[in-house]
Amino acid sequence: MTTPVSLSAQLMDLDACATLEGRIALLVDGPDALDAATRRVNRLTKGAVARLLASDRFSKLKPGETVSLAFPAGLQAEAVDIVRLPRRATLAEARKAGVGLAKLKGKAALTVMAGTQRHAAELGLGVALRAYAYEDMKTPAKDAAGTAATGAVTLMVGKPDEIEAALVPLRAAAEGVFLTRDLISAPANILTTTSFAARLEELRELGVEVEVLEEAALEQLGMGSLLSVGHGSDSPSKVVVMQWKGGANDAAPLALVGKGVVFDTGGYSLKPAGGMEDMTMDMGGAGVVAGVMHTLARRGARANVVGLVGLVENMISGRATRPGDVVRAMKGDTIEVINTDAEGRLVLADVLWYAQERFKPAGMIDLATLTGAIIIALGHEKAGVFSNDDALCNAVLKAAETEGEGAWRMPLGAAYDKKLKSQIADMKNVGGRDAGSITAAQFLQRFVNESTPWVHLDIAGVASVKAETAYAPQGASGWGVLALNRLVADRFETKADAAKDKA
Ligand code: BES
Ligand code: MN
Ligand code: ZN
Repeated sequence: MTTPVSLSAQLMDLDACATLEGRIALLVDGPDALDAATRRVNRLTKGAVARLLASDRFSKLKPGETVSLAFPAGLQAEAVDIVRLPRRATLAEARKAGVGLAKLKGKAALTVMAGTQRHAAELGLGVALRAYAYEDMKTPAKDAAGTAATGAVTLMVGKPDEIEAALVPLRAAAEGVFLTRDLISAPANILTTTSFAARLEELRELGVEVEVLEEAALEQLGMGSLLSVGHGSDSPSKVVVMQWKGGANDAAPLALVGKGVVFDTGGYSLKPAGGMEDMTMDMGGAGVVAGVMHTLARRGARANVVGLVGLVENMISGRATRPGDVVRAMKGDTIEVINTDAEGRLVLADVLWYAQERFKPAGMIDLATLTGAIIIALGHEKAGVFSNDDALCNAVLKAAETEGEGAWRMPLGAAYDKKLKSQIADMKNVGGRDAGSITAAQFLQRFVNESTPWVHLDIAGVASVKAETAYAPQGASGWGVLALNRLVADRFETKADAAKDKA
């Protein structure tokens, strides 16, 4: 797994400024509000910092933006990065500052003179999240420069114990995001259903109970819908169940359900060749579920959360499902498969039903790279949010907003559901071109009990993006790990116990 850069807090040491290696970051509120570290570095550089602060370049900076002094005289450091940041920065501004610093950092060590910045730890998270690179498929460079270790990030602060404590859950979050990104980035010949399940079994090391249900078990359960998707593949279909039991014994869990199509050719309703390679990310929903489970376990969340992922590969062969085939879902309903490329909903139908039958969850959230139509509607900025429960939905929207992960609620309704009527079966798996994301969500809702608060997140536009996003370089974003981790913290954790621990 790609590991986040080492992040730690240390007591502010002004005398170190002259001899620090790598880069030094100064946080400046305005040209006349300089902290001790900024004054010290200014003195050491014979006023270079003050001249920069008096310049146009500095006055044009927005909160969180940076200008740099390269190889400044008077310091051992290779650069001073001056970040405009209010003392009482918002969480978003602090992370943005970290993101900016990460882009400049390269492999250098970075010391951030964070002083009394209240969101120093969040700034550190911003650095860690943006400093990600997926390099598993690259041959490691053999020259000395290529093998040099990545320099650590040190936050020099007034209260290192406080910031260290704040860093603990944030490191867990960064690790979860990295796991999700690694999984989404991995090509389909490497991340097969089998190797994906094996990777999830590693979560046992963190105290997660992991079960892998193989095809025979899925057949026994009657998951004819999910199994129909993987029929054309040589990789066996699997459902992986991950239980984190951090809450009260009797508390019904939150269920997180993920679409894990390790590759989506479209099946006989074949996708065009151009861009088909992107369908290596069609397991994005399952990747987010994996990342959230990792984070919850790593920070010891006091909540019961069960993650369930349907791992399949949508391929073509003599055994693959044909358009027009009728399959029977675990719920008992028959589905006419009009389009074999609308496979994600066939997978989720059975996993959603199984999750409810087995766990009677207090809430259920599914994540899926489900439709191209959601990209037409919302672009790559926001995930589509569909729900049968305003309270859970609003909690998800709020958590996403706080974490800077875009999300937008979309409608559901009987008029959309009607489009799924089949001539020969209980339903068909597509509803036509118009409102494609909504009819997909309607299909899922047919497998959700009215009494189960449920949110469906269509992450097709946000899971992997060809441009950089707020906290990620181009590629897999890890969208959803931070939001769902926060949702669990805000809504599903037993606060009383947490308070007792503090006392
Ligand atoms: N995995 C795709 C959706 C997708 C598209 C994800 C682009 C990420 C980027 C999904 O399985 C799919 O093929 N959906 C079809 C549904 C259609 C056949 C009703 C689509 O969106 O075209
Ligand atoms: Mn498809
Ligand atoms: Zn798909």
